[in-house]
Amino acid sequence: MAKIFVTRQIPTQGIDLLKNAGHEVVVSSKDGVLTREELLAQVKGVDAILPLLTDKMDSEVMDLAGKQLKVIANYAVGYDNIDVKSATERNIIVTNTPNVLTESVAEHAIGLILSLAHRIVEADQFMRDGKYVGWEPMLFLGNDLVGKTLGLVGFGRIGAEVAKRLYDGFNMKIVYYDTRRNEDLEKQFNMQFMELNDLLKTADFVSVHVPLLPTTKHLLGAEQFKLMKKTAYLINTSRGPVIDETALVEALKNKTIRGVGLDVYEAEPKMAEGLAELPNTVLTPHTASATEETRGAMSELAAKNIIAVLGGQPAITQVVLKYLINP
Ligand code: GLV
Ligand code: GLV
Repeated sequence: MAKIFVTRQIPTQGIDLLKNAGHEVVVSSKDGVLTREELLAQVKGVDAILPLLTDKMDSEVMDLAGKQLKVIANYAVGYDNIDVKSATERNIIVTNTPNVLTESVAEHAIGLILSLAHRIVEADQFMRDGKYVGWEPMLFLGNDLVGKTLGLVGFGRIGAEVAKRLYDGFNMKIVYYDTRRNEDLEKQFNMQFMELNDLLKTADFVSVHVPLLPTTKHLLGAEQFKLMKKTAYLINTSRGPVIDETALVEALKNKTIRGVGLDVYEAEPKMAEGLAELPNTVLTPHTASATEETRGAMSELAAKNIIAVLGGQPAITQVVLKYLINP
């Protein structure tokens, strides 16, 4: 019987799978993110860890856990919280939860786009404040999506699902930037590949779908915002540090760009000073994958990865090191 440490209560599907496979499962009883000390105190002697994206998994954690540690199954598709190189050196398999959350995150990104374009959050607040005194021709004028250009920065699974929905369903033009081209989907979505600067000059909506890597940290900052149209909206459902958030607040204040929809922040759970006071922002608390269906599926996939590895089988969705070095 192997011992598995789950760093936070997650939907029970995965926990049940692990228990039914005969493993001893310890779920952190704390209602909150474990402090570093609490985390270190509980990993000793475990065969598997199921951490959240807020738990830093570095060589110290791995060495403290001990040589029997075989798998770290992240409860997230992003794995910038895990030192994959140190894990690989110690023969520890790292897994993530791709695919199961792709559509949910794509829907959320589109939700942010629609909220901004149709000014839904501002208008909702206006109603609640009792300010609606009668129909007005010029009240809360926003923008249509139809005919506008969507610029996707990063074209992996999630970017592709956003493209599909906004091309097929909303008649948007799609341009994209990535380190790799996808010529099949270029044809399918009548989509144009562009270098980042050209995309920023062209797009009416810029939606970010890259992993956080040394090469994507502050990919978008003051210089890039200046290239964007003054009427453009920026949406980020990937990782906060991809955007220089302090520069973003300045760009919004100076009307360099029109608005922003964020699900992720540079120093979560904090926000850059001034961000929350700006009207042209829609802000959600890193909940793009937070649907009952998706969080349940993530729980199952993380558990299945652990069960596979502990059973001597290949992981279902292993994080591969080469992707980190040469994305
Ligand atoms: C959420 O941010 C994830 O990476 O799954
Ligand atoms: C995430 O899984 C992506 O590839 O976009």
